Amino acid sequence: MKKEMSGLNKTGKVQQMKLEKSQNLHQRALEIIPGGTNTNSKRVETFLSPKFFPTYIERGEGAYVWDLDGNRYIDYVASLAPINIGYNIKRINDKIRQQLEKGILFSLPSSSEVELAEVLIEKIPGAEMVRFLKTGAEVTSAAVRLARVVTGKDMILSCDYHGWHDWWSAKIGASGIPQCFQELITDFPFNDFETLEKLVQQHDGNVACIIMTAASYGIEPKNDFLQKVRKLADEKGILLIFDEIITGFRWALGGAQEKYDVIPDLAAFGKGMANGMPISALVGKKEYMSKITETFVTSTFASEAVSIAASLETIRILEEENVMRRLYEITDKLREGLRQISESHQIGINLFDPTPVVKFEIDLEIENSRETASIEFMKYCTENGLLIRRYGTEFSLCPMASHSDEDIEVSLEVFDKALKYAKEKSN
Ligand SMILES: Cc1ncc(COP(=O)(O)O)c(C=O)c1O
Repeated sequence: MKKEMSGLNKTGKVQQMKLEKSQNLHQRALEIIPGGTNTNSKRVETFLSPKFFPTYIERGEGAYVWDLDGNRYIDYVASLAPINIGYNIKRINDKIRQQLEKGILFSLPSSSEVELAEVLIEKIPGAEMVRFLKTGAEVTSAAVRLARVVTGKDMILSCDYHGWHDWWSAKIGASGIPQCFQELITDFPFNDFETLEKLVQQHDGNVACIIMTAASYGIEPKNDFLQKVRKLADEKGILLIFDEIITGFRWALGGAQEKYDVIPDLAAFGKGMANGMPISALVGKKEYMSKITETFVTSTFASEAVSIAASLETIRILEEENVMRRLYEITDKLREGLRQISESHQIGINLFDPTPVVKFEIDLEIENSRETASIEFMKYCTENGLLIRRYGTEFSLCPMASHSDEDIEVSLEVFDKALKYAKEKSN
């Protein structure tokens, strides 16, 4: 398997891999697509410079992807987390093909949307009613609007990212959004109940919802944080919304609400529910969900049948093949391997909490810069066939059930050499 991975070198030094086609296409794209791609987090600059990183992927199979120049990688980005099973899964492809033969989108609703809604209600603890849309941003936006309908209040208390729409982007000061939106959202840090409590007091009587991820990348709730937030929301008549776009169908089939046994009023699911096909779902308590018809939430493509067919089969596979257990097994193995590598090189690796996304940071500096050390580590990994995600000095590995034990072994071998390589540069 190793031989197929182009870029794998025997000298232990980073070699410049061939990225010619990728780089040429990137230049063409920059002329016609602002930023060169349509998903900000897939921009080559968010990983490394185009000199060291592929800019476009040609195809995927199981846990592997191939770039335009034919380099193969073990993929730990998982398309930003929707791919929980793996790429090009036959069972899902067959269902997609079968649905294509019948049609993609119809003039009236189709029976499969009722079927999928029933499945979600059975699998997600807090789901009593369901509405489908296409993206995470759409369902979190629908949840916030519904909370305003239910409570008659305006203010949003938010923790973490929830999508590109005005109500959330105002919080990060994105341009093009009227000032008034900024006054309607305030951020609170995960696991900081005191701050949240103060914010509720400060905006007393005008809070529509608390919208939050129930577990962040690599960070689990601590000190009964979720239970305390649930109680506070109940006492103050505020709707509690869990953003399960990442945690849904990954932390547990029914999301973080199932894993931590705290039931929100509304929840937003997306990414993992169809292994890459575009579909998202707003779910929640009937008394609140039923009010969605009092406002205006709709989309032409909301009941598109191919994604629904893919989602039905994805959920069957997730359950039958106990995919979530495999995801935890993989992350445990990666974490344990990284711990051993850290010990053998006597370089600290901060591993964060044991969630189904491995997040880590390396305690190493090159030219007095941790970021430079992280870039060198990442370059080595890429050159040796691993696609991983980096935010400054933090790395994340998003496992897919298709990662085999051998893939994990190969990956750990690369991490080991990458750390040695970066350590040598630091001296
Ligand atoms: C927690 C969370 N919420 C919402 C979103 C937005 O989802 P989408 O990109 O499908 O609109 C994301 C996307 O990364 C996310 O991670």
